[in-house]
Amino acid sequence: MSEAKRLAGEKAIEYVEDGMIVGVGTGSTVAYFIDALAAIKDRIKGAVSSSDQSTARLKQHGIEVLDLNATGPLSLYVDGADECDPHKRLIKGGGAALTREKIIAEASRTFVCIVDPSKQVDVLGRFPLPIEVIPMARSLVAREVLAQTGGQPVWREGVVTDNGNLVLDIHNLSITDPKGMETALNQIPGVVSVGLFARRGADVVIVGGEPPRVL
Ligand code: 5RP
Repeated sequence: MSEAKRLAGEKAIEYVEDGMIVGVGTGSTVAYFIDALAAIKDRIKGAVSSSDQSTARLKQHGIEVLDLNATGPLSLYVDGADECDPHKRLIKGGGAALTREKIIAEASRTFVCIVDPSKQVDVLGRFPLPIEVIPMARSLVAREVLAQTGGQPVWREGVVTDNGNLVLDIHNLSITDPKGMETALNQIPGVVSVGLFARRGADVVIVGGEPPRVL
C-alpha cells in the first residue's frame, strides 16, 4: 500500500499555492506529502503541524512550523485517514493525533484527505473509533461509550497523546449516523475529541493509485 500512499501524497501537492501556510496532518501517507512539499518549500510561507512526529519531519526538511494562533485560518489542510465513506466522512486517530488534526481541519477552508484504496468503506466503523480522553476519565468514558453505542472500548495502553491524554479505541461499531454519534460522544465529560470527522469531513479525497482518483 505504500506506493498508493505515495501517489496520493504527491498528488496533493497540486492543491498547494504560492505563499500558502499549509496545514499538515499525521501518518505514513502524510509523510509522503511532507517529502513532496520539501521540493517546493521556497514557494510556501510554512506549515502548521498536527503532531510532534510531523513537526520533526517538516523541520528536517527545513520547512518552518508555525503556531496556529499566529497564523489564523488556513487555506489548505492535507491529512490522511483510517476510513473514508462515500460522503467524505472519516475515522481518524490511528496515529493518536486526532485532537490537533480536528483543530486544524476546523481552521482550514479546504481539507484534502489522502488515502490508499483500503481506507474506503461504505459504512464507517470497521476500524476501531479512537477517542482521546483525559486520564482520570478513562473508565467513566469507556462505560458511557459502551452504554451509548454498544461498541467495545479498548484502552490503547502505553500510548500518551501529544496533549498528555489517553486513547480509547471503540470496536464493533457500524456507524450509520456519524454526525449524531460524533455529537453525542463529544458530550461525555472527559472526552477531549472523537476521531469521527463527520461534522467537518473532507472536502476532497485523493485515493492513491495509477493514476490517483480525486473524489
Ligand atoms: C493519525 C491519523 C492518520 O491520518 C491515520 O491514522 C492514517 O494513517 P496512515 O496514513 O499512516 O495510514 O489519523 O492520527
